[in-house]
Amino acid sequence: MPKITWIGQSAVLVEGERTKFIIDPYITDNPDIKNGLKPEDISVDYILVTHGHWDHLGDTIKIAKNTKATVIAPFELITYLQGKGIENVHPMHIGGAHRFSDDFWVKLTIAHHGSAVMNEEEGIVYTGNPCGFVVEIDNKKIYHSGDTGLFLDMQLIGENRLDLAMIPIGDNFTMGPEDGARAVEFLKPKMVMPMHYLAWDLIRQDPDEFVKLVGDKAEVKILKPGDSLEI
Ligand code: NI
Ligand code: MN
Repeated sequence: MPKITWIGQSAVLVEGERTKFIIDPYITDNPDIKNGLKPEDISVDYILVTHGHWDHLGDTIKIAKNTKATVIAPFELITYLQGKGIENVHPMHIGGAHRFSDDFWVKLTIAHHGSAVMNEEEGIVYTGNPCGFVVEIDNKKIYHSGDTGLFLDMQLIGENRLDLAMIPIGDNFTMGPEDGARAVEFLKPKMVMPMHYLAWDLIRQDPDEFVKLVGDKAEVKILKPGDSLEI
């Protein structure tokens, strides 16, 4: 049974029987992290990145260099990372899927958001479109939406028979609790884990509101950063 750990914001560690990966590894300066976790503590086979915003790209470069993990991301973002000296990469694009091994398959989905890398040295760097991921790990299907607004095509993503959906509910930059609950209607996952709702006042939400709005449409898993669940 894959073990899913919510690191905080949209950073999630997934430990399968043979394959380990991290999605959106924002660790350094992540206000959600209270247990002193550092990028050096992460040991994974793959790093999946939904978009170039710093609270998602996070420590990708550091972890990729430490572990030699393969980075999976949209093509333009991969090109940017290659420019930073990352060699183990697997570019993909929206709608494309790839089987990496018997136990691990990845498909890129749409996300309605931005994706530029923005920092003081480089200014604003175009890194393509943002994405979400549908991942099969040990025969379980999980969906990490990345940052996105609600979209009706989540109904198509729901045809994957998702065991777990991970969606933002912080509002302002992404879906809030109400649109998150609509997303659950469209995605029809067995379990849903909200994320992207604690780090700053601007996106802070009461997850119990989300639980009420979802009702009996899915089992809502409210984790504290650092906590895990099994699917
Ligand atoms: Ni973003
Ligand atoms: Mn974000």
